[in-house]
Parts: sequence; C-alpha cells; structure tokens
Amino acid sequence: MNTFQTALITGGNGNLGRLVAQQLSVKGIDVLCLDLPETEVKNETFYKNIFLGDVCDQDLVNRILKDQRPQAIFHLASLLSGSSETDLERAWQINATASINLIQAAKDCEVGLFFYASTIATYGSKTKDPLPEDFMQWPENMYGVTKVAVERFGSYLKKTCGFDFRCLRFPMVLSPFAPLSAKTAYPSHACRAAVLGDPFNFPVSKETGMSCMFLDDVIRSIFEISHAPQVCLKSHAYNLHGFHFTAQQLCENLKQVYPGFEYSFEIDPHVENLVKGWPNEVISNSAKLDWNWAPEYNFETSISVMLDLLSQGPV
Ligand SMILES: NC(=O)c1ccc[n+]([C@@H]2O[C@H](COP(=O)([O-])OP(=O)(O)OC[C@H]3O[C@@H](n4cnc5c(N)ncnc54)[C@H](O)[C@@H]3O)[C@@H](O)[C@H]2O)c1
Repeated sequence: MNTFQTALITGGNGNLGRLVAQQLSVKGIDVLCLDLPETEVKNETFYKNIFLGDVCDQDLVNRILKDQRPQAIFHLASLLSGSSETDLERAWQINATASINLIQAAKDCEVGLFFYASTIATYGSKTKDPLPEDFMQWPENMYGVTKVAVERFGSYLKKTCGFDFRCLRFPMVLSPFAPLSAKTAYPSHACRAAVLGDPFNFPVSKETGMSCMFLDDVIRSIFEISHAPQVCLKSHAYNLHGFHFTAQQLCENLKQVYPGFEYSFEIDPHVENLVKGWPNEVISNSAKLDWNWAPEYNFETSISVMLDLLSQGPV
C-alpha cells in the first residue's frame, strides 16, 4: 500500500477538492490547499495550511513545494469546459502550461505521487458507445485538448523516469456542489431546483444522457488510486464509469419525490451537441483489474443521496 503523510491539493476549494481534503484529513494526512484568492474557503478545518494564489504563479508553487515538502499532489485546479472555450489563452495557461510546470516542479522536488483529474471529454465526439479503453483521444474542445496534453506529459515522465503519475478520466460528475457555471452539469442543477421548488429548464432533449458518476464514488476513486501499490498501475490513465440515464428518466425520478416539480426542455444546441457526443457507457475494466475499482452508486441511489444532501440546506 502506497503511503504519504502530506498532500497538496490544487483547486482545493472546488467541488471535488474540498471532499478529497476531507477524506485525506480524516485518515490523518496533513493536507495543504492552493486555490484562487476569490474562492470561498470551505472545509477549512481539514486543511493544515491554505495558500491563496494562482497555480500559474511558478514562484508561489516552487515556494510551497520547497517549504512544505508535500509527499503527494492532487492536481484538481482547472478551468472547466465552458470557461476554457470562452478564454482559450487562459485555459492553455492554467490547464496546460501551469499543469506541466507543476508536474516538472513536483518531479524536481521529489514529490512521491502526482494525481491528475482528467475527463472523457479528451475523446471528442466521434467515439464508440460503449467507449473502448484504447480508443484514440481526439478532443474537440479546448478543455479536452489541454487535458490530453497534460496526460501525455505525465505519461512521458512515468515511462522515462518512473515518475509516479496517476490519472483518472471521469465522466460527468453528479454532485450537490456542481458549479452553476458548468452547463453540462444540468442533472445536478435539476436536482437542486427540485429540492428548492424551482422550475427547471433542461438544455437537452428528453432522450439525451451520458456516462455519469456520483460524487462519493469519484472521491473514493481518487483516494483508492492514490493508495494503490505503484507496481499495479500499468496504465497512465484509467477511464471510469458509473451509470447512464436520460433527462426524461431524471424528470420521472424527481417527480416521484417532488410531485410539484415543474420542468421543460429548451435545447441549447451547444450543450446538446456536447453531451450527445459523449458515450453513454465507458468501459473501465483496467481500473477493476489493476486496483480493484468498483463503483457503489447507481442512478437511483445517487439521486436519492443527492436529494438528501441538498434538502439538508445550502451546500
Ligand atoms: N466535475 C466534473 O464533472 C469533472 C469531470 C471530469 C474531470 N473533472 C476534473 O476534476 C477537477 C476538479 O473539478 P471540480 O468539479 O472540482 O471543478 P471546480 O471548478 O469546482 O474546482 C476547480 C478549482 O480550481 C480552482 N482554480 C481554477 N483556476 C485556478 C488557478 N489558476 N489557480 C488556482 N486554482 C484555480 C478553482 O478556483 C476551483 O476551486 C478538474 O481538474 C476537472 O477538470 C471534473
């Protein structure tokens, strides 16, 4: 079993980062956070130290690595797909250049393990469904382009000098913390609207759906791959999949719990095309074989836990 006692999480105040921090911290690991000054610090108690700054600030990154000596890095800071498309230059700066510099700095500072969060958006729209694990990655948006670039660099260092680069490609994550700006996260936003008693407009057609995973499985997968023996991890990146559902199935499920839930379908062609291009099922046999990965949540249990969490108050 791989062990580390100190970990740095970039993007530690984000949707996934705050929960990865919690999971590591309860296991006794000292967790450091790097995120932008304008972010709301959540789960403060799980961090030993919080650094507010930009991951593109190489001096700051070098200082953190040299002074704090983290034994593992969980690199989650990123512009997501919508913001990447609206500012291509910034997307390249943060998602590609800063990420590659961070990997290089981690290697130079002898950080033992580097976890990187990638995405099935690295495959583009002309995929097979179910998506085979060895399918060519030809992304069609900037977000996917930058993610492939970083995967390749990490994989290169893993092959050439044994750098412990570990990467998961997530499908859409169903989460009560999904940023409102993430348009493709409409299933998470629909759950929130149902709980609040707000009407919801689906930006896709009724039959549209995609491969999806529940947040708790995502966080557990990050924890488990980071604790798997390095020798077992034969791939530089692993595809993960939880379940598939259509917008209509989600509406029916939400209606059962909240009969007054009002919804409509007003297609946003950009979101519809993006989601339609993603596979409904992603083969993830290597994750099972190499580090014994299995998701615990299906569509029904994910929605039920989502609604419970959302009804407990603002998240
Ligand atoms: N949520 C999903 O559906 C999903 C799917 C696949 C992959 N991922 C990947 O997982 C990671 C985490 O995603 P998330 O859902 O938590 O997103 P998020 O937007 O909630 O969190 C990202 C965090 O990165 C921070 N950040 C952005 N630019 C930064 C910069 N220049 N310097 C420092 N911090 C910066 C943001 O402030 C934010 O707190 C990302 O790399 C994302 O690409 C997420």
